Amino acid sequence: MHRIAVVPGSFDPITLGHIDVIERAAGLFDELHVLVVHNPGKTALLPIAQRVALIEKSVRDGGLPDNIKVTSWSVGLLVDYCTDVGASVLVKGIRSQIDVAYETPMAIVNRDLAGVETVFLLPNPAHAHVSSSLVRQVAALGGDVSPYVPAAVANYLQSPRE
Ligand code: PNS
Repeated sequence: MHRIAVVPGSFDPITLGHIDVIERAAGLFDELHVLVVHNPGKTALLPIAQRVALIEKSVRDGGLPDNIKVTSWSVGLLVDYCTDVGASVLVKGIRSQIDVAYETPMAIVNRDLAGVETVFLLPNPAHAHVSSSLVRQVAALGGDVSPYVPAAVANYLQSPRE
């Protein structure tokens, strides 16, 4: 059986915490789709296409497994994408009880809607405090985000047009 899993998220921008979860998830499934989804509850920093490009570059530069595909989804439910591509599992990183509280209802609804299960991975403790919102804030105030994000993201946030 060819097992396909999806790691969905805003990835605005992708962090080293995301990279850790993506790398470990890629080892658990035959195919892993990293899916950039617009979250209407958040004010975006980067356009979706730029987030996809930065994830692709970070995955390539980091030497992550080649069963990883990066794409985006803007029409309909997340589980519609899963059904379209034949994915039966969503993968999410869980850093804290706050993440558990945020993710649990979505996991139950996604299972109710389409039988798609959610697998939670615990982070490498080195990245447990890292979030995209923290990175956006540090970057907006002129701080150094390089400890928290792949080099491609740090370079882009420093000089977005390059
Ligand atoms: O990185 P984020 O912002 O925490 O990711 C949240 C995301 C995009 C995965 C979540 O908002 C989502 O699943 N959106 C898709 C819309 C959807 O299918 N909603 C209904 C079931 S939860």
